Amino acid sequence: MSDWSPTSWKGKPSAHPADYVEGPELDRAKDKLANLPPLVTSWEIEQLKQHFSEAQRGRRFVLQGGDCAETLADCREPIITNKLKILLQMSLVLVHATRRPVVRVGRFAGQYAKPRSSATETKDGVTLPSYFGDLYNRPEFTPDARKVDPELLVSAYEHAALTLNFIRALVDHGFGDLHHPEYWDMSFLERGGLPSDLRAQYGRASVELGEAIRFVEALGERTVEQFTRAEFYTSHEGLNLHYESSQTRKDAHTGAFYDFSTHMPWIGDRTRALDGAHVEFFRGIANPVGVKVGPSMNPADLKEIARALNPRDLPGKLVCITRLGADHVEELLPPFLEALRGVRILWVVDPMHSNTVKTQGGYKTRHVDQIFSEIERSFAVHKASGSWLGGIHFELTGDDVTECLGAGIAEEDLSRNNATACDPRLNYRQSLELAFRLGGHIRESFRS
Ligand code: PEP
Ligand code: CO
Repeated sequence: MSDWSPTSWKGKPSAHPADYVEGPELDRAKDKLANLPPLVTSWEIEQLKQHFSEAQRGRRFVLQGGDCAETLADCREPIITNKLKILLQMSLVLVHATRRPVVRVGRFAGQYAKPRSSATETKDGVTLPSYFGDLYNRPEFTPDARKVDPELLVSAYEHAALTLNFIRALVDHGFGDLHHPEYWDMSFLERGGLPSDLRAQYGRASVELGEAIRFVEALGERTVEQFTRAEFYTSHEGLNLHYESSQTRKDAHTGAFYDFSTHMPWIGDRTRALDGAHVEFFRGIANPVGVKVGPSMNPADLKEIARALNPRDLPGKLVCITRLGADHVEELLPPFLEALRGVRILWVVDPMHSNTVKTQGGYKTRHVDQIFSEIERSFAVHKASGSWLGGIHFELTGDDVTECLGAGIAEEDLSRNNATACDPRLNYRQSLELAFRLGGHIRESFRS
C-alpha cells in the first residue's frame, strides 16, 4: 500500500462540516496525541478480528452498544459501571439463547465525535455551529462553546484513557466473573421497574449458565482463564481523522499500521464516500473497520467500498452495519446481500438510526417495537438469501433514562429524564427486554 500514509486522507473531500483552523494550536494537540501511549494493543485488535471472523461464520455473536454521544462529563464511575452491567447482562441472555460466545463491543472510550444533519443550529434568531460532540466543541449554545477547539482532542483522549483504565480494572478483578453469573448484581435488576417475569427469566438463564460453565470446567477442557474473563472491546465512529491519525502507528512486530485509539473504528453513514477522506484513511489500518449502511447507499458503491477497505478479502476485517429502517428492510437489504455475495463481511444490524421519529412535543425518539421489527426482519432477509447476520448494534445506557418509547415508557414520560447528548438511547429495562426478545427470536436459528 505504497500510496497510503496516516495522513494521505488530507486534501480528500469530507462530508463532515466541522473542521479546525490549521495552525500551531492544532499542531500542538496532534503532536501531543502522537506521543501519548496507545489506548489499545495490536494483539487485542487482532484478537477481535479473530472473533469477528468467527462471528462471520456463525460461531460467535456480536453485541455492540453504548451511547450515541459519550460525553466527557459522563466519565464517571456509576455511568460506566451501569453501561458495562447492561452489556454484560444482555450478553448473558444472548449466550444462553444462541449457545455461542458473545463478543462485547462498547460504543465507549472514544465515542465523542458526532456527525450532524445540519452544520449550524438556530435558536431565537441566533445561528451557531452545531454541537459536534465533545471531541470537537461544547454543547452550550454560545459562540465560544461552539468553536471547534483542538485542546479537546487531548482532553477526549485522556477521558477515553480514564474510561478504559476503569473498565480494564473492573474486568481484571472479576467484574462479571463468568463462574458466577447468578451474582451479577441482581440488585441492579430491581431498578428500572423491571417486570417480575423478566427478572425470573434472567435469574433462570444466569443459574443455568453458571452451572454449564462449572460443568465444562470440571471436564478440564478449557483453562480457567479462558472462562473467567468477561472481555470488552472498544469502538467508536472514526469521524475525526486528526484524532484517529495521530494515534495511528506502525506496529513493530507486524509492520502494519494500527489505529490505537480503539479496537474497532467505524465509518458513519454520512462520511462513507468512496473517494472521501474517511475511506482513504481507514483503508490503510489493520483494525477491523465498520461501515454504516444507510438507505441512501447503493449496493455497487458498497461493493467498491468493501474492495477499498479490505482488498485482500481478509476474514474478520470488514463489518457492514446496516441501518435501513424497519419498514424498508425487505426492499433495501436483499440487493446488498446479492451484490456482496461471496465477499467476507460480518453483517451487523443497527436497528436504531433509521427508526428515529419526532413526537408532537418535539422529542426525537424511537419505539422499542420498531427497533425489534428491524432486527426481526433483518434476520429473516439474511436467512432467505443464505447469508448470516452475526451481530447487533444498539444505542443504550445502563441508566433509567426516558428517551425511547415502549417497555414502560409512554410519550408523556419522555421529558422525565431525557439525558442524551445526541440520539435517544434504550434504557436499562428496554435493553434487557430487547435482549430477551432477540434471544427468543434467534434461539432456533442458532441451535440448528
Ligand atoms: C451513530 O451511530 O450515532 C450514527 C450517527 O450513525 P449513522 O452514521 O449510521 O447515522
Ligand atoms: Co446515534
